[in-house]
Amino acid sequence: MTKNTSRVPPEEALVQRARHRRFRGATLAAAFSLFALYVAWHEAHGPEARPEDELPITRARADAASQPANAAATPAAVTGNDLVKRGEYLTRAGDCAACHTADKSRPFAGGLPIDTPFGTIVTPNITPDPATGIGRWSDADFLRAMHEGIGKGGERLYPAFPYAEYTRVTEQDVLAIRAYLNTLTPIHYTPPANNLTFPFNQRWLMAFWNLFNFTEGRFVPDPKHSAEWNRGAYLVQGLAHCDECHTPRNFMQGLKSSSRFSGAVQAGWHAFNITPDKISGVGDWRNDELVAYLATGAAAGRANAAGPMGEVVADSTQYLTPVDLRSIVTYLRSVPPISGGETRPRHQWGSPAADVTALRGTTISGVNGAQLFVANCATCHSWTGQGVGASAPGAYPSLIHNSTVGASDANNLAMVILHGVSRTTTHADVLMPAFGNQLTNDQVAAITNYVTRQFGNPQSSVTVEQVAKLRTQLRPWQ
Ligand code: HEC
Ligand code: HEC
Ligand code: HEC
Repeated sequence: MTKNTSRVPPEEALVQRARHRRFRGATLAAAFSLFALYVAWHEAHGPEARPEDELPITRARADAASQPANAAATPAAVTGNDLVKRGEYLTRAGDCAACHTADKSRPFAGGLPIDTPFGTIVTPNITPDPATGIGRWSDADFLRAMHEGIGKGGERLYPAFPYAEYTRVTEQDVLAIRAYLNTLTPIHYTPPANNLTFPFNQRWLMAFWNLFNFTEGRFVPDPKHSAEWNRGAYLVQGLAHCDECHTPRNFMQGLKSSSRFSGAVQAGWHAFNITPDKISGVGDWRNDELVAYLATGAAAGRANAAGPMGEVVADSTQYLTPVDLRSIVTYLRSVPPISGGETRPRHQWGSPAADVTALRGTTISGVNGAQLFVANCATCHSWTGQGVGASAPGAYPSLIHNSTVGASDANNLAMVILHGVSRTTTHADVLMPAFGNQLTNDQVAAITNYVTRQFGNPQSSVTVEQVAKLRTQLRPWQ
């Protein structure tokens, strides 16, 4: 294969950004048609839940968990600037920008196409512009969207908007987010229309999805657990929506709660198992390593955050207080461990390359993984694979003892080679160039397979066809 023929589709086509979820269209369509009549009946006869139906008891208890452990102010005292500041913090915790900012020059004005099983949904403008944003929304409208997934006109919103998690967030926190959004510069911009095929363009059908996959209601603290655990549970189950990527989905794309956090693939990236399982999950990471990973995107000898997780760190978790990050870790430690059948933790594979002369001696054939590695990667990661800069901020990481290289599938490694790493935090500006434009699919496959064999899990490999497919994945994370 020549360089040019294996490089399709062109990079421009990949620049469009979207979220992809596996689609079992036929099953889904059949299920929808079967239940459509029932849902129509339900819609006509079942009274719509309204915000005032909330149970005051759970609200009062949830308000307590929504306070950071060290917060001095009582909820009633939070007003004006404090309210807006708190709203900004919570907006970051909810990573609203990840989906509602498509173009950095138009923050929160929407326009990001999200690929869903129902077709492409484009995120709306949530700046205070009265005509194109949410400037005319009342607080009750906003609460109803966040808690029930219902838009201003009473229409059902699609679950690509993570209201299944945001429903856990207290009224007080939702209103703080609203107060912050109100202070944004209104941007007059109407995002392109959704592109959904029948029957998925029928919003009322989401009532059916909700019936099986959505439980409305605020977070209820568990008195059997510590305040720290409850704070972590409140954040993880609510604003931080970690489940959306790390929990596998059922055929309706609802979350499989029996396998929470056991890992799932989205847009070509494997969001790893983060249960406390010692082999398949993150059970043998220390607490401070997990906190460092969420705060900076790097935990030396464990993992680096690329792709969608790099974005989560850069837009969201780097801004969380140490107290909140520790709470998240405390909660994650308590979910049931789930084994994926691996025999060794992802970050415990690999040994340094010992002999560079063997690599130098061979003729370059264009698809020799070892030679390609020395030519393209060794300047930063060293030919031994041990990286440069050890655990200093912004170091070129070791490929040995790195979860992406030791994972049981090589998706993320191929994605990192294709798309590079770009993550800006207060800790470091991290940049690995994307090789998608320079390397053919067979070259990417050859480097990937050399790297897993030499520095990682030798059982994990990719084919040229798999790399071609990974190239076509749309990119939601940059
Ligand atoms: C994972 C992507 C994602 C994240 C994260 C996200 N949203 Fe959205 N949001 C969407 C999508 C997609 C829609 C449109 C749903 C539809 O058209 O049915 C939407 C719709 C909305 C709407 C309804 C707007 C309208 O015009 O109908 C509001 C309000 C909203 N989001 C606020 C927020 C806030 C506040 C946050 C952060 C706490 C947030 N969103 C985070 C994807 C997201
Ligand atoms: C938008 C999708 C997405 C969301 C939301 C998300 N993650 Fe991730 N996460 C990923 C992906 C993808 C990876 C793998 C990244 C890589 O290979 O560089 C990952 C990796 C991780 C890892 C490292 C695991 C390892 O062994 O390398 C941890 C820990 C983690 N996530 C925790 C969290 C927590 C906690 C949250 C919620 C605060 C969260 N993630 C939210 C997609 C996501
Ligand atoms: C210009 C320097 C540079 C070059 C060249 C380079 N990298 Fe990287 N690489 C980096 C940086 C910087 C990071 C991110 C470090 C971080 O996350 O803190 C990184 C991260 C990685 C990771 C970890 C990603 C994760 O999610 O854990 C892998 C694997 C990797 N590189 C492989 C490669 C391969 C294979 C090549 C050659 C095709 C290569 N790199 C070329 C600088 C480079």
